[in-house]
Amino acid sequence: MSVRRLAEEQFQPAGFSFNAENAVWADATIRKYPEGRQQSAVIPLLMRAQEQDGWVTKAAIEFVAEKLDMPYIRVLEVATFYTQFQLRPIGTRAHIQVCGTTPCMLRGAEDLIKVCKSKIHHDPFELNESGTLSWEEVECQGACVNAPMIMIFKDSYEDLTPTQLEHIIDRFDAGKGSDIKPGPQIDRVFSAAAGGPTALIEPIEPIRFQDSPAAQVEAAPAPAVTASVPPANAAKPVTDAPETDAKLKTPATDKKAAAENIKVKGDNADTARSEKPSLEDKNRPAGIEKPDAVDDLKMISGVGPKIEATLNGLGIYKFEQISKWKKAEREWVDGYLKFSGRIERDDWVKQAKALAKGGEAEYIKVFGKKPR
Ligand code: FES
Repeated sequence: MSVRRLAEEQFQPAGFSFNAENAVWADATIRKYPEGRQQSAVIPLLMRAQEQDGWVTKAAIEFVAEKLDMPYIRVLEVATFYTQFQLRPIGTRAHIQVCGTTPCMLRGAEDLIKVCKSKIHHDPFELNESGTLSWEEVECQGACVNAPMIMIFKDSYEDLTPTQLEHIIDRFDAGKGSDIKPGPQIDRVFSAAAGGPTALIEPIEPIRFQDSPAAQVEAAPAPAVTASVPPANAAKPVTDAPETDAKLKTPATDKKAAAENIKVKGDNADTARSEKPSLEDKNRPAGIEKPDAVDDLKMISGVGPKIEATLNGLGIYKFEQISKWKKAEREWVDGYLKFSGRIERDDWVKQAKALAKGGEAEYIKVFGKKPR
């Protein structure tokens, strides 16, 4: 963690004031707080000052203190506490904040810092030659599951390797930072397991306890359709058909309907489990003999080692094969893998097309990031 002090006098401008648009915004923001609580606007105002000038100057701190009728030292405390506030001029295109706290450090943050040192400047907060980039080490940014990670302005980039960070820095330096999708840079949805879910991937069978409504319904004789209203003091649910008129329902029949519902859901789950498409199905994509050179299908987001082995078992070895799958074939594979639509969501065909056409370089061109 670096010591957070205001920039030396030579960097400090003579004064600060919000431009016309920000002045209107600041007044509206202050009015959002209840009478006597206007000082709560200190963080938004400092942040807006930073967005206007690129960093928080001493003059801006004095301006905010006066605007909110706060002692200067109180605003200075806020500005120097949060690493979101930059206290000296930073790179105009990117300021890389590398998390150096334990989880990120254990997962390679030191190598990311080495990249910053070699590509930007040996020392934190120093600008590169063109003044477009700077970096610093910060404490935990709350994305430890996806360590190591960096922040650039308000976005985080996670699960990074040194090569990926080099790529990100180059894109920002070229003014094309928006090409990089924030968040995990590997096959991971937010902070879910890398490579796809590993638990709760099968339909869940409802738990049936002895004497539960579901168990009672199952143990009861074959249902007989009747529209009669059961006595209010009925000890057990009656065995009406589920479509009994809702107007005639009593709490007892509601219970029974809920139990039926559970049973139906369970049956559906059983059916879903048994509905793995047949290997003889006409929509099964054509397989090939294992070629001498197989493609690394794991480069496709959504394919891990296990799925790759399953695909190989189906005779799928090349990106080109996947790139030509028609809708029915995609649905067959999706059902076979029990993926619940993931092949479409991850757009395997588009990924495979890019990889078949030009490998990693083409993938980066199409998706703005490296394949996993
Ligand atoms: S330790 Fe790096 S984000 Fe938490």
